[in-house]
Amino acid sequence: MSEFDLVPAPARLEPGEGTFPLAGAAVHGPWAALLSGELQTVTGLSIPVADDARIVLSIDGEGAPESYRLIVTPGGVQVTGADRAGLRYGVFTLAQLARRVDGAWVLPAVEIDDAPRFRYRGFMLDTVRHFFDVATVKRLIDRAARLKLNVLHLHLSDDQGWRIEIASRPELTARASAGAAFGAPGGFYTKADYAEIVAYAADNDMVVVPEIDLPGHTHAVGLAYPDLVEEPVLLDSVREVTERFGGGLPVKGEHYNGIAVGHSSLRVDHEPTYAFLADVLAELAAETPGPWLHVGGDECLSMDGDDFAAFIARVTGMVDGLGKTPVLWHEAGAAPGLAAGTVGQFWGLRENDDAVAAKARAFPAGGGALILSPADAIYLDMKYDAETETGLAWAGYVDVAQSYDWDPAELIDGVAEADVLGVEAPVWTETLATPAELDRMLYPRIASAAEIAWSPARGAHPWRNWDSFAARLAGLAPLWEAQGIGFHRAPGIAWAN
Ligand code: ACM
Repeated sequence: MSEFDLVPAPARLEPGEGTFPLAGAAVHGPWAALLSGELQTVTGLSIPVADDARIVLSIDGEGAPESYRLIVTPGGVQVTGADRAGLRYGVFTLAQLARRVDGAWVLPAVEIDDAPRFRYRGFMLDTVRHFFDVATVKRLIDRAARLKLNVLHLHLSDDQGWRIEIASRPELTARASAGAAFGAPGGFYTKADYAEIVAYAADNDMVVVPEIDLPGHTHAVGLAYPDLVEEPVLLDSVREVTERFGGGLPVKGEHYNGIAVGHSSLRVDHEPTYAFLADVLAELAAETPGPWLHVGGDECLSMDGDDFAAFIARVTGMVDGLGKTPVLWHEAGAAPGLAAGTVGQFWGLRENDDAVAAKARAFPAGGGALILSPADAIYLDMKYDAETETGLAWAGYVDVAQSYDWDPAELIDGVAEADVLGVEAPVWTETLATPAELDRMLYPRIASAAEIAWSPARGAHPWRNWDSFAARLAGLAPLWEAQGIGFHRAPGIAWAN
């Protein structure tokens, strides 16, 4: 626990003298009710919204997008956002500042000037291997926004199921949504559900990036439209994973219950496939206000490289034609002919070889940019250690210190700060079935991703080191408990009670 338990670390902080007492305080300005609620959650105090308040919130249109300035003195508090998102982030910083001194809740005197390092600060939820209802997704949004994350990537289709209603292709949800991994119940988001998630995200200054994973990870499409998919390819790796984890081998036209990858693909030399994709992508683009549409591209292990490249060129062109920026996992960087501006998502290891790095570099070279999701740092489904009950370990065990131990500008040879759009922490759900299991795997490691995405670079800020981060995380425990987050009390961190 340190004096300022702030995560992510603000860009600049100057401690002041004394404290501002919260008992008897009131708040005024945009987001006043939000701040009142946040402070009540932490302190139990009721802090009314009033005109003559000593906590004043405002938006002045000055400074970088999403930035804010915050001044606490013993006599008052001012938070000024460059925009509505910036002011909200300032509100969340104030909630993290609240502390009890000699039995009274106070804010320590301080001056903070804060702005994000990267524009894209995301987390991804796999809604396929296990399905999560709208209420759970909204709760994840609430919590992620409080760590200053601003993108929710929803993985909406995969071998085990199809999770989003497409009016022009009703067989998808009629036939391909009921299943999930290991026989768990499936489900899908109706158009109204998706609209509700998108609107809730927007209220939280968060953008939704929907993903339809193509051309692999498409076994479920074959339940609805068998003519569009190839026969499963039973690679040795598919048999090995099936022997180890169960779930059975994939059979065309039957729900797939296992967690092997690389066995499915669309028929890419077949025109009806593109008519199908035109329908799906157009509906999704129309319902997604954000600029990005993710079309997968990963682990297409059974397809010829030229066919893969031709497919990727065509599908990124389709997304571009719908006025959206395509995003694909880094394998797609091997395909020449990516639409200009296509964004890549790196999911390799922190120690990556040149073959992987070359694919990642293809995106900036094509005029796009990269989202960084190093699997042995911020794949939040990796087990912490051998004792972790849920999760996988194909990228190794990832303890909290390791999740923090990397920097975007140093991750991939030939990829510099300016090539990086941002950072995203995915959670794949092969082994995660409940909100409590998600909480335990996400928290605290999602905070590492948030700090790496928001705060100044390692080496450019006195707090950007493990000792400082661990101390600040430790101090957040009471806030996280008050927010109802069932986080993992990782050993090696002196969690506050
Ligand atoms: C991935 O983990 N297959 C992107």
